[in-house]
Amino acid sequence: MYVCLCTGVTDHQIRAAAEDGCTSMRQLGKELGVGRQCGRCACMAREILRESQSRDYFNLANMLAQPA
Ligand code: FES
Repeated sequence: MYVCLCTGVTDHQIRAAAEDGCTSMRQLGKELGVGRQCGRCACMAREILRESQSRDYFNLANMLAQPA
């Protein structure tokens, strides 16, 4: 789904940027232009970024919790 209509950025692109190491809205703005024009997408983009980060931490915690 489109998150930023001004730049045509989708939720998939935001998740991919998070996987590539993007950790803040500032970085997301530099990488994809999200939130740099009207700003209406900022809340949704931030939420997707946080969700991606928490999923990464959850997966890492599960990996570390498994017996060797
Ligand atoms: S919708 Fe993203 S800057 Fe306008």
